[in-house]
Amino acid sequence: KKPKILVVGSFMMDLISRTDKVPGEGETITGRSFSTASGGKGANQAVQAALLGAEVTMVGKVGDDIFGTLMTEALSAANVNVDHIIKDKSAASGVGNITLEVRDGQKTKNRILILPGANMTLVPGDIEFLRNEISKYDMVILQNEIPAEVNEAVIDFAYSKGVPVMLNSAPSRPVSQEIMSKFTYISPNEHEAFDMTGIKIVADSSGIDFSTVKNAAGYFLDRGVKNVIVTLGSNGVVMATGDRYIFHPCIDVVEVVDPTAAGDSFVGAFCTAICSGMSEENAIEFASYAATITVSRLGAQPSLPTYSEVAELMDSVQRKGQN
Ligand code: RIB
Ligand code: NA
Repeated sequence: KKPKILVVGSFMMDLISRTDKVPGEGETITGRSFSTASGGKGANQAVQAALLGAEVTMVGKVGDDIFGTLMTEALSAANVNVDHIIKDKSAASGVGNITLEVRDGQKTKNRILILPGANMTLVPGDIEFLRNEISKYDMVILQNEIPAEVNEAVIDFAYSKGVPVMLNSAPSRPVSQEIMSKFTYISPNEHEAFDMTGIKIVADSSGIDFSTVKNAAGYFLDRGVKNVIVTLGSNGVVMATGDRYIFHPCIDVVEVVDPTAAGDSFVGAFCTAICSGMSEENAIEFASYAATITVSRLGAQPSLPTYSEVAELMDSVQRKGQN
């Protein structure tokens, strides 16, 4: 049976500039190349789950403009249900201004500036229909690119019907303790974890100080979150579930073309895997492979892998490991 996943979240049209160097104040420089791709954390996670076999419904707002049309079409093409995407006549579609710093012999780095536009005009009334419908879903995925009061309404509906909720806490934003206790999964990176807990996770090129990860995860667990997944970029990922800790290293087998949407790919894949009945360990591993493929390709949604692409990479890496 296909897992049923609901994503209430954002749409951004990503305007991607590849450059050797980021301009300084008052400076004009010439970059390498420009492209556009559908993005937004909500839409990315919806597409990732759908490409991996979930039945996905996306709820969110776009503007009444060409970006809104293109972003809705991108979700349809990935088989996401787009019946609940609202077109706002008064606001522009969200945009992600992405700069990719490309240096020979170095991993490509990104910087993202979002202009959320129509995403922030979503109001609790727009999602009121979910009060009764939410029980149809196996899991709900939220991020922080739509108003907090909309997320809070969705969490309340889901919690009252016993539907698990994943919060991908990006970009960073405070969450009240009462709301926090209703999350089944929360997935911050080290920076978001610091903003929410005040605990600094030490993870750098020399490795991870696990005691700092445990302290930060413990903060969430103490406040009622059931599972905490801390993503640490090239240092991998640590999941705290009950009194178990699961660690998975970053899979370093591809050239980094564009790290954009790696986190979204991870979250979409993890949730799909869990809803399909995979163990936490296997879901973390599967999601790590999905994210690896995502960093090897340009653009957010165009870079997200299908199930067979993830399976193929896992197979080839594991076969090499045995030789
Ligand atoms: O997580 C990556 C996404 O964040 C990009 O697609 C960009 O639009 C921002 O929302
Ligand atoms: Na990418």
